[in-house]
Amino acid sequence: MNAASAESSRPANATRTPEQLRSWRWYGRDELRSFGHRSRAKQSGWNAEDYVGKPIIGILNTWSDLNSCHMHLRLTCDAVKRGILQAGGHPMEIPVMSAGEMLTKPTAMFHRNFLAMETEEMLRANPIDGAVLLGGCDKSTPGLLMGAFSMDIPVVYMPCGPMMKGNWHGETLGSGSDVWKYWDEKRAGNLTWDQWCEIEDGIARSPGHCMTMGTASTLTALAETLGLVIPGASSIPAVDSAHTRAAAMAGRQIVENVWLDRKPSDLVTERSFENAIAVDMALGGSTNAIVHLVAMAGRLGIKLPLEKFDEISRRIPLLANIRPAGKYLMEEFFLAGGLCALLNGMRDLLHTDVATITGKTLGENIADAEIFQPDVIRTPANALQPDGGTAILRGNLAPDGCVIKHAAATPELLQHTGPALVFDNYAALKASIDDPELDVTKDSVLILRNAGPVGAPGMPEWGQLPIPKKLLQQGIRDMVRLTDCRMSGTSYGACVLHIAPEAAIGGPLALVRNGDLIELDVAARRIHLHVSDEELASRRADWQPAPPRYHRGYAKLYVEHVTQANEGADFDFLQHGPAVPEPEIY
Ligand code: FES
Repeated sequence: MNAASAESSRPANATRTPEQLRSWRWYGRDELRSFGHRSRAKQSGWNAEDYVGKPIIGILNTWSDLNSCHMHLRLTCDAVKRGILQAGGHPMEIPVMSAGEMLTKPTAMFHRNFLAMETEEMLRANPIDGAVLLGGCDKSTPGLLMGAFSMDIPVVYMPCGPMMKGNWHGETLGSGSDVWKYWDEKRAGNLTWDQWCEIEDGIARSPGHCMTMGTASTLTALAETLGLVIPGASSIPAVDSAHTRAAAMAGRQIVENVWLDRKPSDLVTERSFENAIAVDMALGGSTNAIVHLVAMAGRLGIKLPLEKFDEISRRIPLLANIRPAGKYLMEEFFLAGGLCALLNGMRDLLHTDVATITGKTLGENIADAEIFQPDVIRTPANALQPDGGTAILRGNLAPDGCVIKHAAATPELLQHTGPALVFDNYAALKASIDDPELDVTKDSVLILRNAGPVGAPGMPEWGQLPIPKKLLQQGIRDMVRLTDCRMSGTSYGACVLHIAPEAAIGGPLALVRNGDLIELDVAARRIHLHVSDEELASRRADWQPAPPRYHRGYAKLYVEHVTQANEGADFDFLQHGPAVPEPEIY
């Protein structure tokens, strides 16, 4: 085939010829199969000069009626297509699963690895030279990036952007955080049904992901810090016209990156992940980021031990004054200068020489960014607190580690010893938490177990265990809580999460009994069950795993192959290894 039409848009410094593009194998050769591919391209209305020898860009779109955070991504996709065409590429929109955080059960986390697998396989199986990934709602960011890292062709991540801030009677409402707050007030009898419905009217006012510094805002910012997003795009609200302009830029950028063969493995290094951890701490980001960063790094063969998060957290100040750790929301963060301004303000704490999709270093991308609202985006000189507020704990209850976001907990609870009150699963907790006869005091340590990667399955965001109703009515709003699941990035409280190994596979959490004394000491990074080793050995001898619940389907695959939280809860067979061969085209 004639590749001349591609030459006009190929940059002078291109490292690849049209014949070296992946898509050439499908469309460019004089073979029986290529005839079939080209004739079906004509069926789609394309002539050879539209696409043969040009970068063919897959736009992996997580738009779905099931995911209100992504309801605008068809329009975003149109803008990406415009950018691709302007740069001389050929766009192909590819729908991929949309595991919306709100509706997907048991949890969108259960489907993160599914999306990662789908992403990798759709890119591998088709004539795609590079991809723009459209996501944003919680697990879509790590799912898309994990798959793209494993496939390792050029990609640009285009976040959907946060929604507008919520409003109720002139009071600002934040996604998640204010739901938990007002739900407790309703259970305590301080809020009427009508008021509750008014809050429902005002808390999600536009397309876009949750606008607190929850998992979505955290992960999209970290994707940008890793160098995979058009600079600034992760902070732009979904409904701001700058979002559309950034989408077109993403389209233009990916075409250049295909010609220059800028792959994730060329850009993202261990130092990039150290930056991402530092920024997670500066943002007061979600604890979920730990699991996702470990999994994402694992796809590139980079190991992130939990202690790295603790070490970086101790030296990185909290700079983003965003709920739940702070006061404002993402709209204000954007107007204050957004992520680029935050990064520039903390540039002395970052590896600024790391590579990015723009062809410039991270330091070059952020060099001109200014902070316009110094109360919203702080610098190390006027930080909200001197450290990042996330700690990794170990002890006989969590030999492989666990996590607490102590910045979002009541300080008096960070050193606490109390008797365990154990719930074997979420149904048991729900059935009795509001029982006036529940044997609980404010000093009790609430435990939810069998809620981890295998146990739940998918380690749902149940970790902010509800405060028992009778304590709520006494004015108690925080208690020490322990679990092997996660909690929403918009949650808060003295919640110890991601306990590994989990109870369902026989972790020590499975051996705790009501009344056992549990000691939490965040300063010493310790979580300890005050039961003798002999007694624990005796309890272990009596312990039996629950019989398998799943005998077919994705759930069976999931529970048989998911790793523990400290390993990223990825599938063991999807972690980094020898490259999967390109498909044969016969
Ligand atoms: Fe989609 Fe929160 S529900 S980001």
